[in-house]
Amino acid sequence: MEAAAALPEDKYFQENPKPVYLDSLIEQTRAFLNTHDKDEKIVLVTSGGTSVPLESNTVRFIDNFSAGTRGASSAEQFLFKGYRVIFLHREFSLQPFNRHFIRTKNLNFLDYFNAEGQIDEKYLDDIKSMKSMAEKYKDALLMLPFTTVNDYLWSLRSIAKLLNNNNAMFYLAAAVSDFYVPYGKLPEHKIQSRSEFQDKSEGKVNKSGQLILDLDPVPKFLRKLVQNWANKSMIVSFKLETDEDLLITKAKQALKNYNHQLVIGNILSTRHKEVVVLSEEEESEHWIKISDETLKNHSIEEFIIEDITKRHEKWMSNDN
Ligand code: PMT
Repeated sequence: MEAAAALPEDKYFQENPKPVYLDSLIEQTRAFLNTHDKDEKIVLVTSGGTSVPLESNTVRFIDNFSAGTRGASSAEQFLFKGYRVIFLHREFSLQPFNRHFIRTKNLNFLDYFNAEGQIDEKYLDDIKSMKSMAEKYKDALLMLPFTTVNDYLWSLRSIAKLLNNNNAMFYLAAAVSDFYVPYGKLPEHKIQSRSEFQDKSEGKVNKSGQLILDLDPVPKFLRKLVQNWANKSMIVSFKLETDEDLLITKAKQALKNYNHQLVIGNILSTRHKEVVVLSEEEESEHWIKISDETLKNHSIEEFIIEDITKRHEKWMSNDN
């Protein structure tokens, strides 16, 4: 009998080496899990976009869009609901509690201080309140950064295998690359644009000086996560589209293909004001929408996490 061909998801890990820090990430995760009671609710939140290097010594890369708002804001809400949170995030993307002082208010770091170097009065209350929350929840939050899609996939697999439990949830808000350059095809050095150095570019630039990108599809890891790595846990994935006409169809397709518990669909331009929740249990679409007025003092993640955590309670009590 012929041996079954390896699945693309398995081949990926044979052909793309693990990040150098992976053993340390596993140790940190183990230590974090060891300090918590086995019955405590725990969630892995992934956040931010993965990048795809075009060179081994990376100068150029392709990036996936995501500021990290969804993930960072959701992580805060999970903490408020008593969850422990593993926050697997793109390095330098938004982080729980700190996010309130970055990007959102169009302020630079130095704007928070007066000429004497003290915190400006008008920001003091907000800073004190976020600082006290960050302190309060610091032992319940494990921060793990990634940069490339390869870092992300190795980390996801390692964490999932450690976390796979009925009281764990996977909340996959990161924007994951669909195409990449496999390790074996990566030029070692910076791709050269000038013709006299182009033999160093390993054929990536043609005679007309055009850069030719030959990207392989990233295998879909959701199936592997659902069926193997985290088959005891509740899995919530996100579906991002820019075309409204495709959102529901694609979200339903994801639910059917991967056979997990929830898909949250969002459109890029309205993602902070509305999402649609589709579940394996209900036929109907459940929309969560907030008005511009509500958005002034609330985030949509408050409403999303309220909804999702109720579903998680039910999931845990069904003893899946
Ligand atoms: O961070 P913000 O700026 O607030 O934006 C938040 C967000 C729009 C990025 C977030 O809400 C969101 O939608 N994240 C998911 C984006 C995404 O990767 O969507 P997708 O349709 O490409 O992938 C769908 C699912 O397949 C994802 O759960 C992903 O984990 C999974 N996937 C994707 C690629 C891949 N190779 N394998 C996968 O398993």
